[in-house]
Amino acid sequence: MRIATLTSGGDCPGLNAVIRGIVRTASAEFGSTVVGYQDGWQGLLEDKRVQLYDDENIDRILLRGGTILGTGRLHPDKFRAGIDRVKANLADAGIDALIPIGGEGTLKGAKWLADNGVPVVGVPKTIDNDVNNTDYTFGFDTAVSVATDAIDRLHTTAESHNRVMIVEVMGRHVGWIALHAGMAGGAHYTVIPEVPFDIAEIAKAMERRFQLGEKYGIIVVAEGATPKEGTMNVSEGEVDQFGHRTFTGMGQQIADEIHQRLGQDVRTTVLGHIQRGGTPTAFDRVLATRYGVRAARACHEGDFGSCVALHGENIEMIRLDDAVDTLKQVPVQRYHTAQAMFG
Ligand code: F6P
Repeated sequence: MRIATLTSGGDCPGLNAVIRGIVRTASAEFGSTVVGYQDGWQGLLEDKRVQLYDDENIDRILLRGGTILGTGRLHPDKFRAGIDRVKANLADAGIDALIPIGGEGTLKGAKWLADNGVPVVGVPKTIDNDVNNTDYTFGFDTAVSVATDAIDRLHTTAESHNRVMIVEVMGRHVGWIALHAGMAGGAHYTVIPEVPFDIAEIAKAMERRFQLGEKYGIIVVAEGATPKEGTMNVSEGEVDQFGHRTFTGMGQQIADEIHQRLGQDVRTTVLGHIQRGGTPTAFDRVLATRYGVRAARACHEGDFGSCVALHGENIEMIRLDDAVDTLKQVPVQRYHTAQAMFG
């Protein structure tokens, strides 16, 4: 069998571990070969591909962040318009199965290809952990570890200066990173996109801390967090070609409000792409490897239109429809649990 793989969307620690899992399993278990399309869907459209060998180079990529294949985002309309090209390129290269590795947008593209007769097995990735019907996506644990380490460091400098520290983490539509990093880092307040925040409540929580003799406060803000309607004026970002609103720094806007209300010294740290770079954690290396191995096996079983997923302890196959039908948001109950530690 000849398998093709590609990585698409934002990069994510663990992508290379998936590629390694696919190549080694395809080669060692089935005597199959694997090619990689470069720079995401664009590479498939332009037939930019490299042969991937089961050798020491593939072995070494386990530890490497980013993706050896490169990645990118392609507007769904451009992708759909190129379906004939995609099919022709796959046929010319003698590809029997395609494994796209990506987040919600990529998996929607994969589902669309599957609906159009392309043999596809998806692998879910995103530091945001928002792909539906899987317990965790690889990259999330690394992002949470990076954010937690940053929060740990901010505790001491915040305390030394009697400051409120705001830490803005990634999470456009969902607050998984904020929720977990906030809990792990002992944040005194966390705001997530799923639960619109009340700035007066956040300021009160900080004020109470200082009244009780505490010297500082840490607030974790997901970049996509929004205030309750009518409670705070926020600057709106522009909408990009993918329909995503560009961020205007919610962390800093909250910082300005708190400073105004309490007169307290406030500083903001935006972690940004640091959360996505570098080597994956052990958890992500294991999860990504298991996803890669399972995806390669699924191709040989002819289980197409499917996607690998983590359910409890097990890697299982789900239908692509079930992976992309909705975003996996933080349940309000989980936020309530985190709230017990606020203040
Ligand atoms: O989806 C992953 C993610 O890292 C989001 O958390 C973030 O909002 C977005 O990608 C950033 O995208 P870019 O790398 O294009 O700035």
